[in-house]
Amino acid sequence: MRRIGVLTSGGDAPGMNAAIRAVVRAGIYNNIQVMGIARGYAGLINGEIKEMDLASVGDIIHRGGTILKTARCEEFKTDAGREKALNVLEVFGIDGLVVIGGDGSFMGAQKLSHAGIKTIGIPGTIDNDLSYTDYTIGFDTAVNTVLDAVSKIRDTSTSHERISIIEVMGRHCGDIALYAGLAGGAESVLVPEEEFDIDDICKKLIQGKARRKLHHIIMLAEGTGDALELKKEIFNKTGIEARVTVLGYIQRGGSPTAFDRILASRMGARAVELLMEEKSGRVIGIKKNELIDMDIDEALSANREFHKEMYELTKILSI
Ligand code: F6P
Repeated sequence: MRRIGVLTSGGDAPGMNAAIRAVVRAGIYNNIQVMGIARGYAGLINGEIKEMDLASVGDIIHRGGTILKTARCEEFKTDAGREKALNVLEVFGIDGLVVIGGDGSFMGAQKLSHAGIKTIGIPGTIDNDLSYTDYTIGFDTAVNTVLDAVSKIRDTSTSHERISIIEVMGRHCGDIALYAGLAGGAESVLVPEEEFDIDDICKKLIQGKARRKLHHIIMLAEGTGDALELKKEIFNKTGIEARVTVLGYIQRGGSPTAFDRILASRMGARAVELLMEEKSGRVIGIKKNELIDMDIDEALSANREFHKEMYELTKILSI
């Protein structure tokens, strides 16, 4: 392996820069030339590629976003698009590729691997929605960002004795809501993995008011339903008005936590090791604090285990 490429794809996540830095530095340490591919698969198709030296990844370990930029690329999903990408990889003499992203990015990596390019995936997404790994890069930072927001919203909720609905990201996965909900002491945590009964929530609200509880935080994962609809339903059933805060992109940016930087550094270096061992079509994960690697297809078809015990705990602790 003499020359490898690295790209970030899909939604950005804090810690992607730390992962890029680790790939570049571990590559150079092992006498491998590392090429940075801009704008994910879109940049690959367009040949937006340049060599990365040690300095190119200096002063980025603490920065959110991705210095390589990222994109969601429809063209790459077509045979013609991937054909173009393969030509570009050949022209640039890149024989190994590290893809930092989520499940969609991994599917693309697997296609390239079937076409003969050695590919390794690193899980970079705030959603924590990849079943084969305990954590994805960016999740811990996103949870901490949400937690910070919850604490601030709680101050205002308490001052005004109001109900707050806080909508968080995660696509079809409720982990951000669950972890931030438990850590933030939310009264209700609504996630797509578990059905909820609106009447139970309303009952809890009314009981809370009756015992002079000053606030009620409802943590809503975006994949569960619409926050404004929920607000309306609560009002129709109880006459109580809730305030909605949709946290949005605040969750995607910001300086990565120590956990995410360490995870990204370990995974980036492991990706280079795997390529040096001529491995391909594999993704890196973490299980019980040990790095693992797994076939991409197997990883993508693994069943997601929702943390039911933590979910039940949010209910017990918010009675
Ligand atoms: O996958 C990360 C994520 O932030 C999801 O939580 C969210 O549903 C989606 O991306 C938003 O996508 P976009 O970048 O297109 O706004």
